[in-house]
Amino acid sequence: MSVSSCICYRTDFAALKAIADASGGGLQELHAATGCGSRCGLCIPYIRVMLMTGLIELPPMLPEDFKKLGVRCSTLERLITQLNERGEPITHDPEAAERLARAHANEDSRA
Ligand code: FES
Repeated sequence: MSVSSCICYRTDFAALKAIADASGGGLQELHAATGCGSRCGLCIPYIRVMLMTGLIELPPMLPEDFKKLGVRCSTLERLITQLNERGEPITHDPEAAERLARAHANEDSRA
C-alpha cells in the first residue's frame, strides 16, 4: 500500500510533480492549479514530502515519520488524536517510513 494522490481532488502525485517540475512552484502553486490539499488536507504533508524527495509513491506515514523529514502535519495529528480517543488507532509500516527518512537524509548529505 502506498500514498500516491490527493484523493479528494483525484489528482495523483505524478501529475502534481509534473506541474511542480514545469512551473518550479511549490504547494501553493499546486493548490492553485488543482485544488489539492484544500478539502481534508491529509495529503498536504505527503505532497510536501513528494516535493522534497521527488517520489510519487510514499509509504503511509504517521506524524513522527513526517517530523523526521521536517514536515508539519497538524491535520493528520488531529485526526490520529480523534481516532485514538475513539479506540480506533491507525497502524502503518514504520520501517517503510524509516527507510524513506534515511534515504532522504542520505540525499541531503550528498548535496
Ligand atoms: S486528500 Fe487531498 S485534500 Fe483530501
